[in-house]
Amino acid sequence: MGHTAAELKARYSLATRPTICSLDNYLVLPDHSLDDRILAAREALGRDAVILGHHYQRDEVIRFADFRGDSYRLSQEAARAAGKYIIFCGVYFMAESADILSRPGQVTILPDLNAGCSMADMAEITQVEDCWEQLIAAGLTSDKGEGITPITYMNSSAAIKAFCGERGGLVCTSSNCAGAFKWAFAKAPKVLFLPDQHLGRNTACNMGIPLNEMAVWDPYMRHGGVTPERLRAARVVLWKGHCSVHQRFLPEHVDAVRGKYPGVRVIVHPECRWEVCRKADGIGSTDKLIQMIREAPSGTSFAVGTEIHLVNRMGKEFAADGKKVITLDDSGCLCTTMFRISPQHLCWALENLVEGNIVNQIKVRDDVKFWARAALDRMLEIQR
Ligand code: 13P
Ligand code: SF4
Repeated sequence: MGHTAAELKARYSLATRPTICSLDNYLVLPDHSLDDRILAAREALGRDAVILGHHYQRDEVIRFADFRGDSYRLSQEAARAAGKYIIFCGVYFMAESADILSRPGQVTILPDLNAGCSMADMAEITQVEDCWEQLIAAGLTSDKGEGITPITYMNSSAAIKAFCGERGGLVCTSSNCAGAFKWAFAKAPKVLFLPDQHLGRNTACNMGIPLNEMAVWDPYMRHGGVTPERLRAARVVLWKGHCSVHQRFLPEHVDAVRGKYPGVRVIVHPECRWEVCRKADGIGSTDKLIQMIREAPSGTSFAVGTEIHLVNRMGKEFAADGKKVITLDDSGCLCTTMFRISPQHLCWALENLVEGNIVNQIKVRDDVKFWARAALDRMLEIQR
């Protein structure tokens, strides 16, 4: 660090590097040794590239993001990105959405293709198609979705987004889920919510829908483990998926932290269980959690139920304002797939672009793109 951009650029172009940048050569390098190279490659790409970073990325990566945000904000940035290359430091479904929202000719790159999402993997398109057939058989809807609107959380495959788009449904994120429910209920009396049961349940509860008007569809059970009568009685059908990071927070963690730190404010992500959310003082997307702490008076303490990298970063950043930020659960919940994006992968992807090689491009099939785009455009019209 401490070099001017011009010095870095000059050093970069003079450096002796192989023309094919092999990932193996990067993975053996220590994190801090890559800072200058990432900056120089970023500088060399100039306006051709934009780096988007989700709040759960580690410090060594997010510091290079041109824009950081929650899923909603990052999809807005992807939709208005001007550069040729969108380098997405986040997980697979986010990069897929960026590709769907980008303009023809733009290239979306996920620095490590193994950065998936265990929740998104809990709903396969064939399982969703099977569920829909059962809903039709139970008399809840026609194939076009006239009786029930499918909503999928952003954390799902492009194929599921397209499925929802084609049947008059939409995508939502944790920040506009209530708006998506209202939009859906204006069209049809019922909602099918995929794939996060907790976000769906928390949102429906906050809208005044009682738990006994929600049914849970288990894709691993015959007929979803629900009778047709139960489906007909339900206003909301929740897919049985969850986030393995957020589901680890328990109501007893809320009680314990309140006992240990009297006056602490407990704020949680809506992917946490309903039993945790109902005990919390505030619920919100990653952007909203940050905003809640930023707007609190100095001296406030927070216990936060979300991914540990964001919690630790907020702990450091808000200490200067006299605010204390700790994790809700001492064992610290890490999203191992977000963690896969390393400075080594980022440097490898950027230096390859400088060399003219596109690596790890995320490319959604054109036939899937059409309806997935419709579902994402509907989402972007719903304010947070
Ligand atoms: P946000 O949209 O709130 O950033 O959430 C994304 C996510 O994957 C949380 O687990
Ligand atoms: Fe998926 Fe959970 Fe990680 Fe978010 S925190 S990306 S939902 S596994």
